[in-house]
Amino acid sequence: MRISVIGTGYVGTVSAACFAELGHEVVCVDIDRAKINQINSGVPPIYEEGLSELLRKHAGKRLSATSDYDNAVKRTDISFICVGTPSDSSGNIDLSIVKAASASLGEALKKKKDYHVIVVKSTVVPETTEKVVLPIIERHSGKTTKDFGIAMNPEFLREGKAVHDFMHPDKIVVGSLDTKSGDIVASLYSGIECEITRTNPRTAEMIKYANNSFLATKISFSNEIGNICKELGINTYQVMSAVGRDFRIGPHFLNAGAGFGGSCFPKDVKALIGKAKEIGYEPLLLNSVIAVNEGQPLRMVKLLKNKLGNLKGKKVAVLVLAFKNDTDDIRESRSIPVIKELLDNGAKVSAYDPMANENMRKLFGGIEYYKSATDALRGADACLIMTEWDEFKSLDKEFEVMKQNIIIDGRHMLTPKKDIEYVGLCW
Ligand code: UDX
Repeated sequence: MRISVIGTGYVGTVSAACFAELGHEVVCVDIDRAKINQINSGVPPIYEEGLSELLRKHAGKRLSATSDYDNAVKRTDISFICVGTPSDSSGNIDLSIVKAASASLGEALKKKKDYHVIVVKSTVVPETTEKVVLPIIERHSGKTTKDFGIAMNPEFLREGKAVHDFMHPDKIVVGSLDTKSGDIVASLYSGIECEITRTNPRTAEMIKYANNSFLATKISFSNEIGNICKELGINTYQVMSAVGRDFRIGPHFLNAGAGFGGSCFPKDVKALIGKAKEIGYEPLLLNSVIAVNEGQPLRMVKLLKNKLGNLKGKKVAVLVLAFKNDTDDIRESRSIPVIKELLDNGAKVSAYDPMANENMRKLFGGIEYYKSATDALRGADACLIMTEWDEFKSLDKEFEVMKQNIIIDGRHMLTPKKDIEYVGLCW
């Protein structure tokens, strides 16, 4: 099939490259010329494992990029909306980019005679495809769903593993208002061994939110158990490792610690809370998932204050800044509230992250960033471990350069050594 992909973020670019790998002709559409030029020269605009190999293989052949919506829609049969859906100031979903993309697609459709399918892949709250995207396309194209198809096909891609997750999904969900457009979307994935769930658009939208909200709930549940265990001198990792052996629960996403960050879990849970409230339902459990998550990083600073007393003038090293390992992405990283709380308490903060120093410097310009853990630890009174990077699991002699050896571990990373005052967040 000939596919156009609107938006070249990590979902759009990965989807485009993987669709090309599956044998389709793909055109990426974006307003950012730099990204268009990068993709056309086979250079990925974002880092994702395996993405550069796919772009080098397909750019200029099956894969191209343009800013021209009309041309892209004219020469393809199906268009995926893969633009961002950030949170607004109150945590609700901001659909402005989705609406703009829908209007541009509608304008392009107006100039096209043949049948065309529009697919929403962006993470949008239930009812968006039918009540927001569809009316905009109808209005701008002057057409109805007799002339074009509309569907919803959510992604379940982990940042850093997105290419793997696209090509090896454990589910593919296709929501459509009619069988014809759903069949066309489902056919794109014929090269992937995976059962396809066929449903309607709002169910497909809800599957995505329920999936992410459940994973976030598992994490906040583990953190709540961990916070209780901490007070009782119980190691929550031993508890949750045993709990995870129950085949109905499973071992994944039960790691207690500093909480969940990233561009998805916080945003998606808050957006679902906003949608629930909009329809008059108070989501008590989802509210608690966010409340527990927002409290976890502050508990690390509280543990530090129990050890050090007043933090004024104390030097605290924050090791790892990104929201998870193997990325430079600091969005909603749990190190952000920790750094803010340390600075608010008058501490001097040093920081090291293998990839994310420069991104964090844009948020906190007034702290010292170092190129190694040792340099960040030099002369420090304490150290907070915020994210699981393999290289930090073996930290040992590096601590010798500290003034005091107080370590608050937010990710169950370290094996405590005798001469270190090791404090686990939930263990
Ligand atoms: C997540 C979902 O996994 C993915 O399916 C969805 O499409 C997008 O959101 P991602 O945000 O890339 O992917 O990161 P993930 O690897 O899921 O981790 C999210 C956060 O949860 C990280 O901050 C991580 O540190 C934290 N986490 C994860 C825990 O605190 N405990 C765990 O047990 C697992």
